[in-house]
Amino acid sequence: MAKLFHFLPLVFLFLIQTISVSAQVAPAPVGPTNITQVLEKAGQFTTLIKLLKATQIADRINSQLNNSNQGLTVFAPTDNAFSSLKAGTLNSINSQDQMQLVQFHILPTLYTISQFQTASNPLHTQAGNSDDGEYPLNVTTSGNQVNLTTGVVDTTVSNTIYTDNQLAVYQVDKVLLPMKLFGSTAPAAAPAEAPAPTKPEKNVRAGAADSPSGSSDTSADASNAVTFKVSFALVVAVILAVVSCF
Ligand SMILES: *[C@@H]1O[C@H](CO)[C@@H](O)[C@H](O)[C@H]1NC(C)=O
Ligand SMILES: *[C@@H]1O[C@H](CO)[C@@H](O)[C@H](O)[C@H]1NC(C)=O
Ligand SMILES: *[C@@H]1O[C@H](CO)[C@@H](O)[C@H](O)[C@H]1NC(C)=O
Ligand SMILES: *[C@@H]1O[C@H](CO)[C@@H](O)[C@H](O)[C@H]1NC(C)=O
Repeated sequence: MAKLFHFLPLVFLFLIQTISVSAQVAPAPVGPTNITQVLEKAGQFTTLIKLLKATQIADRINSQLNNSNQGLTVFAPTDNAFSSLKAGTLNSINSQDQMQLVQFHILPTLYTISQFQTASNPLHTQAGNSDDGEYPLNVTTSGNQVNLTTGVVDTTVSNTIYTDNQLAVYQVDKVLLPMKLFGSTAPAAAPAEAPAPTKPEKNVRAGAADSPSGSSDTSADASNAVTFKVSFALVVAVILAVVSCF
């Protein structure tokens, strides 16, 4: 029995090696950023993904990400945001206008949260004309809080889903309804429901980790986790080594 205890520290050292090695061989991200994959990994964006596919804007975004250095910002309404629209809202507009609605959620430049603080209103979206009555989108900030207003809908950026040096995707809990399409039909949106619980930061980052060109703090997170496991295993190994001496 005492002999067995002498081996345990070795077993733990072996486990430590295994953990470190498996952390190093995590597959490297490949290929250009894919908006669909970013949203799939984040979860709760199935309606937006459907719209992006149906309007072929997903392809356009991906090719823009692959071919230009201008960057893009996407405001991504959650499935809850779409389901709390008044029934039939999406079907009340034709496919050309649905395309405009989706483009209204995309800025043709990359904005970090802090860059919104100095952005001038109205923001220019891919829907085009940002005059009042058309497709204006205004931003107001207070520290890291970013509020958006379309003149029809007010909402807040509730989460950063993804950022790299080309693309930023921000969660919004309401669909951004532009004046041009929804300005006259009041109220276009159903009464706001309790905000959906945001996904824990950890999951969101885990999603970004295997995305192409995931941000560097994801690997920092991963290595923190490994460091913790290693320290824990070391403590156990030392305790066992001491115990086994008796
Ligand atoms: C992006 O990802 C989706 C879903 O995984 C896939 O169907 C599509 O082909 C990808 N597009 C590109 C350009 O890689
Ligand atoms: C990205 O662009 C390069 C060069 O323009 C092209 O060869 C490649 O096929 C593109 N990749 C995708 C996934 O579109
Ligand atoms: C953003 O919106 C929230 C909720 O409506 C409000 O309490 C807050 O004062 C707004 N902040 C700014 C900077 O507009
Ligand atoms: C957006 O801001 C501009 C400039 O301050 C203002 O003229 C316009 O009325 C605002 N539009 C909305 C919808 O808030």
